[in-house]
Amino acid sequence: MAAHIFDGKALAQRIRVDIEKDVAILYEKTGVRPGLAAILVGDDPASAIYVRNKKMACDKAGLVAHEHRLSANTTQEELLALIQKINADPAIHGILVQLPLPPHIDNRVVLEAIAPHKDVDGFHPYNMGRLVEGDPVFVPCTPKGIMAMLDAIESSIEGAQAVVLGRSTIVGKPMALLLLHRHATVTICHSRTRDLSSVCRQADIVIAAIGKPHFITAEMIKKGAIVIDVGINRLDDGALVGDVDFESVKTQAGWLSPVPGGVGPMTIAMLLQNTLESAQRAVGWR
Ligand code: GUN
Repeated sequence: MAAHIFDGKALAQRIRVDIEKDVAILYEKTGVRPGLAAILVGDDPASAIYVRNKKMACDKAGLVAHEHRLSANTTQEELLALIQKINADPAIHGILVQLPLPPHIDNRVVLEAIAPHKDVDGFHPYNMGRLVEGDPVFVPCTPKGIMAMLDAIESSIEGAQAVVLGRSTIVGKPMALLLLHRHATVTICHSRTRDLSSVCRQADIVIAAIGKPHFITAEMIKKGAIVIDVGINRLDDGALVGDVDFESVKTQAGWLSPVPGGVGPMTIAMLLQNTLESAQRAVGWR
C-alpha cells in the first residue's frame, strides 16, 4: 500500500486560524498585537523568499511584522546595534535573524545578542539549554512543527525507534531532544555514520535533514515507517526537492511528508505560535 501523504499546508492553515483567533483575543483584552522583527542580511534569494513568506503569514494572522533588510556588507557591529535597539522595543515580542549570515559575521555572537525572551527561533544558548533540560521556553520552529505533524497523525512516539539524519543546531539536535523527551529511542546519524542504511531500516520514525537531494531511498526504510522530509534542495533545473526520494519511499513508508507542502508551512506556523506565546508572556498571560 502506498504511504499516506502529510498535508503540511492544510495542518499549518488550521493552526494559523487558531493563532489568528488568539491574536484577536489578546488585542481585544490588552491592546497588544504580537510584533515580530525579521532581520535579513545580504541578498541570498532563498532567504529573501523565506523572510517574505514569514512576513506575509504574520500579516494574515494579525501579527505585526517588521522586515529589516541590511546590505551584505553590513558590519557585525551595525547588526548588533540594530538587535540591541529591537531588544529594547516593547512593541516587538519576537526577533529572528535569518540564517545563514554572510561569512564575515559570527553567528554565535549575533544569536547570543538576541534577548532570550524574544528569541522566537529558540537558537539562543539559554533557550537551547532549557530545551536540553526538558523545560523549553521557545522551541526551534522546524522541530516544533514536526512534533505537531507527528501528533496530528497520532503516531506513537513513546518507545518508538527514531532516527534523525543531520545534527544541525536548527533541526537535528533539537529534533532529537524533542523526540527523546517524548520517550522515543533516538539515534542521530550524520555524514560519518557507518552503514547508515541499516540504522535507518530499524526506524519507526525517520527525520531527514541532511541537505542531500533524494538521498533516502526505499531500501533504507522499514515497511510502514513514518518519514519526515526536512530537506529543501534546489536542483540545476530549478526544481525544489527534499532529502527523500519521494517516488520510491512512498511505496514503503506508512506516512511521508512531501517537499514542498510538508514541513515548510509548519515551520512558519510555529514561528507565529512562538511570537504569540512571547506576547502573551509579556502581558502576564503565561
Ligand atoms: N534558516 C533556515 N532555517 C531557519 C530558521 O528556522 N530560522 C532562521 N532564523 N533562519 C533559518
